[in-house]
Amino acid sequence: MTGQEDEAGCGHRRTASVDRRKVLQWGGAVGLAATGAVPKVSLAQEVTPAVAEKGFPVFEVAPLAKIEVGSEIAFQYPDADSPAVLLRLDRPAEGGIGPGQSIVAYSILCTHKGCPVAFKRSHNMLLCGCHWSSFDPAKAGRMVIGQASEPLPQIALEVSNGVVRAVGVAGLIYGRHTNIR
Ligand code: FES
Repeated sequence: MTGQEDEAGCGHRRTASVDRRKVLQWGGAVGLAATGAVPKVSLAQEVTPAVAEKGFPVFEVAPLAKIEVGSEIAFQYPDADSPAVLLRLDRPAEGGIGPGQSIVAYSILCTHKGCPVAFKRSHNMLLCGCHWSSFDPAKAGRMVIGQASEPLPQIALEVSNGVVRAVGVAGLIYGRHTNIR
C-alpha cells in the first residue's frame, strides 16, 4: 500500500488525496429528480457522446445562468447507478466553479456504508441519516464528524458554452472498485 492508498471503511481499497484530491478521474451522468432544499432546478439530461479523459463521459448538468444561489440539482454520474448532487453554495468552495467558485457537486453515497446524504442548508453540510456523518461541501467533501473515513467523492465540473458539465470524479464512489464500470 502506498502513501496515497488506504483502506476505505467499506473494505474497498481506494486512492486518497484528501488535500484537494488532485488525482482526478473524469466521468459523466444521467438526470434525476432534485432533492433537498429550495430553490431547485430540474432538467432533463442525457449523457453526451463526448468522452473525456480516462474513459469518463461528459455530462451536461444545467445552464450556468439557471443555477441560482441555493440551487440543488440531483443527477447521476458517471452512470445511472451513481446518484449525485450539484450545489450552488453561498460561499466559495474548494474545487468550485462559476460565480465566486460556489458551484460544486458530489456523489451522495456516504463513504461509510453507502447511505444517501442530503444537503442541510441550515448547517451548510451534507448529512448522512444512517450514522450522522457530516461532510462539508465547501471543503472538498471532507468529513466534519461521523463514521466515515473518506471525503465524499467530488465531481469535477467545468463550464463550456454556458453549460455546467460534469467531467470527472475525485475519490472512489462507495461500493466500487473503479468509478467507471
Ligand atoms: S452510512 Fe453514512 S454514516 Fe454510516
